[in-house]
Amino acid sequence: MDMEKIVSLCKRKGFIFQASEIYGGINGFWDYGPLGVELKRNIKDAWWNDMVRNPPPGPDGEEIVMVGLDSALIQNPKVWVASGHVATFADPTRKCSGCGKFTRADQLWEILAQCEWMNSLIQEFTPVTGQIDTPRLMKWAQGKGKKLAPNLALVKNPQVVLSFLATRVNGQPDAPPELMEMTRYFATEQLHATGLQDPCPLCGGPLGEPKPFTLMFETHAGTEKSDDTKVYLRPETAQGIFVNFKNVVDSSRVKPPFGIAQVGKAFRNEITPRNYTFRSREFEQMEIEFFCKPEDSMKWYAYWRDVRKAWYTKLGIKSEKLKPREQGEKELAFYSKACTDIEYLFPFSEETQELEGIAHRGAYDLTQHQNASGKDLSYFDEAAWAVYDKSAFKGDKKREQEEKAKFRYIPHVIEPSAGADRFTLAVLCEAYSEDTMDGETRTVMRFHPRLAPVKAAILPLVNRDGMPEIAEKLYRELKRDWNVQFDDGGAIGRRYRRQDEIGTPFCFTIDGQTLVDQTVTIRYRDDGKQERLPLSEVANKLREALRP
Ligand code: GAP
Repeated sequence: MDMEKIVSLCKRKGFIFQASEIYGGINGFWDYGPLGVELKRNIKDAWWNDMVRNPPPGPDGEEIVMVGLDSALIQNPKVWVASGHVATFADPTRKCSGCGKFTRADQLWEILAQCEWMNSLIQEFTPVTGQIDTPRLMKWAQGKGKKLAPNLALVKNPQVVLSFLATRVNGQPDAPPELMEMTRYFATEQLHATGLQDPCPLCGGPLGEPKPFTLMFETHAGTEKSDDTKVYLRPETAQGIFVNFKNVVDSSRVKPPFGIAQVGKAFRNEITPRNYTFRSREFEQMEIEFFCKPEDSMKWYAYWRDVRKAWYTKLGIKSEKLKPREQGEKELAFYSKACTDIEYLFPFSEETQELEGIAHRGAYDLTQHQNASGKDLSYFDEAAWAVYDKSAFKGDKKREQEEKAKFRYIPHVIEPSAGADRFTLAVLCEAYSEDTMDGETRTVMRFHPRLAPVKAAILPLVNRDGMPEIAEKLYRELKRDWNVQFDDGGAIGRRYRRQDEIGTPFCFTIDGQTLVDQTVTIRYRDDGKQERLPLSEVANKLREALRP
């Protein structure tokens, strides 16, 4: 599937626009148009409904206790020191000595694989056998290369580069250079002085050594701009939950196991934002911190991993494109016992990419905040202590205190952390399809009805004989509950196509028969099938289809 087609439909139909487009845009920021905002809202609402208001029963069939939170985007900077973000929330970056721009070091080859000059150059040689056609590469260097990668060594000094490469290819005919090595040769002008170089994806120039680059956006709170007033835009919603753990426990009568959920914006100054909205600098997260007893934590980890995967499937993501990937021991943070990334096969990559991470975070975050704030964030299991047999130490205060202390613990945390924008993009990619209907090619967005931005269209077949009046009455009734459209413009077939293209699952057509027997035509988006339905049943039909 072609990503360009999806991007073009998103702009044409008002799902996603480039932020500040009339000023040339701004890298890593996106705006959601009239349909996009409905789609994303439906996604967040579905998450809130299915995970916070009505999560599936627990591993032993028990009711899951979840509450919500909406914490500030800007917190006391001490929060980010305690969480470890100030010290370590950084990506390795490399500066190009040609154009001065930075590239994310750990994703260099993925970024190169998508860049224009690399895709153009790769047409000019055979990476598998290492065969090179010197005149052809020379021609590229003097033509397309000059425009696309002006600082690439091959472009600046083709004779030298190609002679180094020829020596390598001819010197080891049994071990031809692979694509990565070839690319490094193309990027190297002074092989003996510098060794092989890595090229900049933007201009082909040589990249410097990796250096950490902090991803947090900084600003100042108050009128003075000094180190004392420096604050950060939150890079995740999670810490707002941890620092409110005590508030929630004290105010809500919840006790572990229970979860706190939050949906909201997060900001990361990504070095190389890319793949449309996939890696943005401003995005929304849907996060849960689920607090439980340490000894039950693996049970709850398995519960959330399975619940979260099932949720994506339930909302129409085909299972062959969805891959839960359990992280290996080396990948895990030092405090984490387990982590699964739920990945999706986006059209822009041959490998699945992360939609959500479900992490076992142990007692790390609450311990960090307890140590840094000096506030007790442990939980005392009052209910278990109340029924504990105290007869063996009755009257022995010291022993009683020792026994009581065993009922106090720092809860362990399971964190399912999902990206609302990433899932929105996955839903758009999954929904996009083209097929033939009534001899015509059509584009159809096969959204799950719960996520579809427009739930139904109400269409009078013709603009006379009382049909518009009936249609308008139905429209007014339905719009009280759902986002529906009234459309009386153009031939009925064209109106159906318009709705298919924006993914409206149902069209209700008021026609001649309606005047006779008070029934309407219901037309289904996915297969174009049509049936008759009593007018009085339309709202029920829609309610049933949209039920979680
Ligand atoms: N509290 C844990 C946490 O923030 P993360 O893996 O860094 O973990 C969680 O982020 C989710 O947030 C990711 O799985 C992804 O869906 C989304 N996300 C992270 N960075 C993003 C970015 N630059 N653009 C869009 N979504 C992003």
